[in-house]
Amino acid sequence: MNNFHEWLSQKQVFVEFLLEKNLPQACHETPLNEAVRYSVLNGGKRMRSLLVLATAEIVEVPSTAIENIICAIEFIHAYSLVHDDMPCMDNDDLRRGKLSCHKKFGESTALLVGDLLQSIAFSHLSSPSLQIKPENQLKIIHTFSNAIGIEGMAKGQALDIENTNKNISLDELKTMHRFKTGALINTACLMVVLASNNHDKNTLDRIDAYSKSIGLMFQIKDDILDKEASQEALGKTPGKDEKDNKSTFVSLLGVSKSKELAAGYYEEALAAIKPFGDNAYCLAGIAELMMTRSH
Ligand code: IPE
Ligand code: IPE
Ligand code: MG
Ligand code: MG
Ligand code: MG
Repeated sequence: MNNFHEWLSQKQVFVEFLLEKNLPQACHETPLNEAVRYSVLNGGKRMRSLLVLATAEIVEVPSTAIENIICAIEFIHAYSLVHDDMPCMDNDDLRRGKLSCHKKFGESTALLVGDLLQSIAFSHLSSPSLQIKPENQLKIIHTFSNAIGIEGMAKGQALDIENTNKNISLDELKTMHRFKTGALINTACLMVVLASNNHDKNTLDRIDAYSKSIGLMFQIKDDILDKEASQEALGKTPGKDEKDNKSTFVSLLGVSKSKELAAGYYEEALAAIKPFGDNAYCLAGIAELMMTRSH
């Protein structure tokens, strides 16, 4: 199949089905499972899952490994959004066009949604059903742990708070974005390469370069959309970054320079995957989708 849009619609349906199947069922004892389902199955773009599937087009990986990686990535991403919206963080009432988790279920449940999603994510990655070499599986778990914690998302979120109401340099801003958003996008792609039994260093390096570039591009675009998009299109509260005096690409460079920078990262990403030829058409398509997205 060499039609990106056909590929995209098939994979989007597949990801929704997979996530739904792997979440705990709602139960009557506590609202926690219902809140978890609400926070994952609520219309995300599934960009990280699509990246996993697009990377799987260039390396050979068992489908069970791919499925577990998708669940892990999407569950961690959903947890990061639930916590990001909480009053002690960005204090946002709206997520994916609906009430944010804490608004709907209360703060203590929202906190526990994050805890639960984090643990289910690791349960998926460490599952014996991955059918890959144990040493590769350990590498994946190690890479993922760093990307969502000390060398990634949690650190980036801490920098985001630290950098609020502050003038920071462009380099500091890029560092923050690399951690808070880039690391998860990077690890989504790297885990797939690491899961393949016969991966080579050149493939790993090129996928690393590609995903680092689109990771930065993705958060620049998020900052631009916060400034330019409507609440209806965005599904979250627009203008929030400026109102909260956040350090963003838009606050530092303005919209037009931010767009130029994003375009530069887009070109860098395409250059990194060029040697993969036709096999990389999905990775190229996703980069374009991320660049042109309206929400
Ligand atoms: C939003 O991520 C938060 C960032 C890391 C910029 P997405 O734009 O991927 O959010 P969903 O999953 O589509 O809602
Ligand atoms: C959040 O960045 C990044 C995460 C790690 C969740 P933002 O705070 O800009 O994300 P949105 O705009 O609320 O989705
Ligand atoms: Mg935030
Ligand atoms: Mg936010
Ligand atoms: Mg934002």
